Amino acid sequence: MADTLKGRHVLVTAGPTREPIDPVRFISNHSSGRQGYAIAAACAALGARVTLVAGPTALPDPDAVETIHIETARDMLAAVETSLPADVFIAVAAVADWRPAEPSDRKLKLDKARFSSLPLVENPDILKTIAQMGDGRPGLVIGFAAETHDVETLAVAKRKRKGCDWIVANDVSGDVMGGAENAVLLVTADGVESWDRAEKSEIGRRLAARIAEARV
Ligand code: CTP
Repeated sequence: MADTLKGRHVLVTAGPTREPIDPVRFISNHSSGRQGYAIAAACAALGARVTLVAGPTALPDPDAVETIHIETARDMLAAVETSLPADVFIAVAAVADWRPAEPSDRKLKLDKARFSSLPLVENPDILKTIAQMGDGRPGLVIGFAAETHDVETLAVAKRKRKGCDWIVANDVSGDVMGGAENAVLLVTADGVESWDRAEKSEIGRRLAARIAEARV
């Protein structure tokens, strides 16, 4: 019988976050959410209970997945913490590393002095927070890395720095962000595997199957 994820709770983050500058402006990125949504759907198809914490995307909620919509990195972290415990945590979201220090509740007027510098503060690192939590840490914590060069070296270093078990690294020098396909390296404690370029849905199915094999 094929491996399944029945009885497992898989928690996934996906999409960008949006960090408000004022009521009409924000800092964000080009993440479409497609890879994270595909992974959530693939885990659900293998029988897992799946919670997806998603930033703003144009995608419909996947079937059979509890989807929690958030905007900011801090909201994403809070929703992830509320959704624990989980057996598997997969951080696919492109979290904005920085947020405006003092978002305005009134629309800012475009005077040059104000916009020539925008004070920023660092957002929480959600992957690192979950990977390095003590009691209640999910048995398998998976991060993503988006690199334009030295993909393998940087991904191996990122796995150690974040304290996660696996890193799925993609080369974003092409049209990966927003595109339909992905070519990835899977970095684990045992080494580095290169996966053939495939549709993001297929990458999701391969990753879900690998997670099922890991039997966490
Ligand atoms: N991540 C997160 N919270 C953050 C930043 C990143 O959970 N505040 C997660 C992402 O979901 C992803 C991984 O950490 O799983 C990406 O790590 P990051 O250090 O942001 O790497 P890159 O975006 O690839 O950028 P860089 O290497 O330049 O830091």
